[in-house]
Amino acid sequence: MEILGICGSLRKGSLNMVALRACEELVPQGMKIRITSIADLPLFNQDVFDAGIPEPCKRLRGEIAQADGVLIASPEYNFSVTAPLKNAIDWASRPPNQSWQDKPVALFSVTPGPLGGARVQYDLRRILGQLWAHVLPRPEVFIGSSATKFTDGKLTDETTRKFLADLLAGFKPWIERMRVRK
Ligand SMILES: Cc1cc2nc3c(=O)[nH]c(=O)nc-3n(C[C@H](O)[C@H](O)[C@H](O)COP(=O)(O)O)c2cc1C
Repeated sequence: MEILGICGSLRKGSLNMVALRACEELVPQGMKIRITSIADLPLFNQDVFDAGIPEPCKRLRGEIAQADGVLIASPEYNFSVTAPLKNAIDWASRPPNQSWQDKPVALFSVTPGPLGGARVQYDLRRILGQLWAHVLPRPEVFIGSSATKFTDGKLTDETTRKFLADLLAGFKPWIERMRVRK
């Protein structure tokens, strides 16, 4: 089972990216995560799309389409989705063959504040739901007060690692279930 990891922060020291990397170690047996980059996508423009989808966007669309599932880790910006992540979702959302169709997705968020990105996750669910992606309903993982959970560029909080392991363990049967439904 091949999972595509997407991080909603472009920051070099992104803690969402650190947590996504930790997920590579926390996957259940039979699941593998490959993290892609959304840093090289131009801003979505329908004229550019119509003239020929740029290479990085074509690559991302193919990666999402090929993956058995997509795991998104993102901070919250101004109570909602970060611009780079929304841009990536938009590039992959245009027909023909929009990449999110029937795609199993799991989400989590990391923020320095105590709420852990509660608002961004519900906006992501709304956006991806109308694209016919199947977003795992539970468990929900909100990693708040991030300063206390990461040390020297590593996710060191054991409880948080367990939450992520539970999310991935729940994602596996969700993907299998969605396969049957196709
Ligand atoms: C433009 C901007 C808006 C932000 N808005 C919020 C917000 O609404 N809620 C929140 O919890 N954190 C907010 N933050 C803080 C981010 O959650 C924080 O920078 C986060 O750690 C970035 O994630 P990263 O470490 O993966 O880069 C905002 C940060 C930026 C740069």
